[in-house]
Amino acid sequence: MDILISRERIQTRVAELGREIAAALPTDEVVLVGPLKGCVVFCADLARALHDAGVRVEMDFLELSSYGAGTTSSGVIEVKKHLSDPITGRHVLLVDDIIDTGRTLAWAREHILSLSPASLRIAAFLDKPSRRVVEVPVDHVGFEIEDLFVLGYGADLAQRYRELPFIGVKTD
Ligand code: IMP
Ligand code: MG
Repeated sequence: MDILISRERIQTRVAELGREIAAALPTDEVVLVGPLKGCVVFCADLARALHDAGVRVEMDFLELSSYGAGTTSSGVIEVKKHLSDPITGRHVLLVDDIIDTGRTLAWAREHILSLSPASLRIAAFLDKPSRRVVEVPVDHVGFEIEDLFVLGYGADLAQRYRELPFIGVKTD
């Protein structure tokens, strides 16, 4: 495994993102909404970074299934697990590990907007702009990367490697 983004760079950037997002939010409270499971590591760190920046945080999760081949998402998405609580009238931050084609976040964005939040912003830890198929307004990005299949910090290959504290690229 080659390290693309070290644990230290991740920690520094997430703390910055916490301050950046806190300054951009319309109030000092937010509901983090993430699509399971890739979002969880970033969500957990971002929640604490937002706390440090003076924001009161709630978290909720949905699980989407995308029917398609291999390591890229298809256009057909279904909800496998719904949000636990209503978000109508709440300030929401949609959070994910990676924006690749954009299909997942575009779908999740429309879904959340249909539930009438007071506001919606989007944060992705990694952005692969060269892979975009569907345009999504992403407000906060941790790092832009090239078209590489990466692992760690929530990102998996067949459910493995999510726990790696760095972003890596498999070499073998
Ligand atoms: P999109 O719908 O194509 O934008 O795909 C987004 C989702 O695909 C992310 O939330 C990740 O779960 C997954 N994904 C995209 N690129 C990678 C990668 O390089 N490694 C692991 N998972 C990825
Ligand atoms: Mg994902």
